[in-house]
Amino acid sequence: MTAIDRPLLAVLKGKARERPPVWLMRQAGRYLPEYRALREQKGGFLELVNDSEAAAEVTLQPIRRFGFDGAILFSDILIIPHALGQDLWFETGEGPRLAPRLADSELAELVPASARLDPVYETVRRVRAELPAATTFLGFAGSPWTVATYMVAGQGSRDQGETRRLAYGDPARFTHIVDAIIALTVEYLSGQIEAGVDAVQLFDSWAGSLSPAQFDRWVVEPNAGIVAALRERHPDIPVIGFPKGAGGKLRAYVEGVKPDAIGLDETVDPHWAAEILPADLPVQGNLDPLALIAGGAALDAAVDAILDAFAGRPHIFNLGHGILPDTPIAHVERLLDRVRGTTA
Ligand code: CP3
Repeated sequence: MTAIDRPLLAVLKGKARERPPVWLMRQAGRYLPEYRALREQKGGFLELVNDSEAAAEVTLQPIRRFGFDGAILFSDILIIPHALGQDLWFETGEGPRLAPRLADSELAELVPASARLDPVYETVRRVRAELPAATTFLGFAGSPWTVATYMVAGQGSRDQGETRRLAYGDPARFTHIVDAIIALTVEYLSGQIEAGVDAVQLFDSWAGSLSPAQFDRWVVEPNAGIVAALRERHPDIPVIGFPKGAGGKLRAYVEGVKPDAIGLDETVDPHWAAEILPADLPVQGNLDPLALIAGGAALDAAVDAILDAFAGRPHIFNLGHGILPDTPIAHVERLLDRVRGTTA
C-alpha cells in the first residue's frame, strides 16, 4: 500500500489536493448513539478502551457512518500515566482522576508497566484488518507537558497552576517526570506503528498555559525528542503536532519540534498561519467545534473561510479541538458535504 492510495496520508507527506481530506478530533464518542449504546453495555469508558474488540468497533463506527478519510484509534492520553503506575478512573460528570497525584508524593519511581498498553496494540491490529484501504489510520499519544499536568494534579485543572509551580520550583523533579513520559511515549507510539497505524498525532492540549521560556523547555524540547526518536525508528511515519493554544509560539514549535504536519486550534487565524508557516508544511484544522454545533449558514461560512485560506497547500480539514457531545449528526453531514463539494 503506497501513500497514493490514502488521500490523508498523501497530504501528510506534503501533497496538496483539490479537496482536503477530513477527520474530526474525538470523532468516536458521545455524540454518536451507537457509541453511547456500546459504552452502556460495556459499563464505562475504560472498560471500552481495554476491550480490544469493543475499542476497534468504536474506532470504526464514525468511519462507517461518515466515511471520514482518517480513523483515530480509540483510547486516551491518560493510558500512559496508568502504565507508569498511577490508578486511573473517571468520575461521572467530572472527568479523569489519577492517584497518587504526583504533587503530594515523594519522588515517584514511575516504573513502566508496559503490559498495560497491550490491549491498545491489539485494538490497532483489529482495526487495521477491517479498515477500508483508502482510510488513513492515526495513532496518538498526549504530549509530555499535557500528560504531566494530569499526573501532577491528579485531575484536570483550570490553569495547570500546580504543575507550572512544580516546573519552576523543582525543575529536577519535574524533568524526571517528563523524561519518564517521553521514554514510555516513544515505546507506546512505536508499538502502535508496529501494530499498523499510518501516522501519529501528539496532543498538547495545555501547551497554551506556558510562558515562552517554559514553552521551550516543556513543550518544544520533549516533543522534539519524541519526534526525533520516532523518525529514527520509523522514518516513513508522519507525526502531527498539535500544540493547542500555542498562538504566537506556533512557529517556535514548528522550528523546534519539526513535526511532519501541524494541527491548528480554532483561535488561530488561518490566513496568518498560512503566511507564517512554511508553505510546504501540511496543516490540519481548524473549525470551531461551536460553529459545528450552530450549523446552518454560520457553519457554511466558517468552513468556506478555512477552505479558502488553505487552498493550494497541503491541508487536512478538522476541528480546532474535539467534537462536543451535543453536536447534531446532521451538522456533521452538512460539514462533510461542504468540504467535499457535494452540495452547492
Ligand atoms: O479522538 C478520538 O475519537 C479518539 C479517542 C480520544 C479520546 N481522548 C477518547 C475519550 C482521544 C484522542 C483523546 C485525547 C484526550 N484525552 C485529550 C487530548 C485532546 C483534548 O481533547 O484536549 C485529553 C486532554 C484527554 C483526557 C480526557 N479523557 C478527559 C479530560 C476526559 C473527560 C472529558 C470528556 O471529554 O469526557 C476524557 C474522557 C474521554 N476520552 C472520552 C472519550 C470518548 C469520554 C468518555 C465517555 O464518557 O464516554
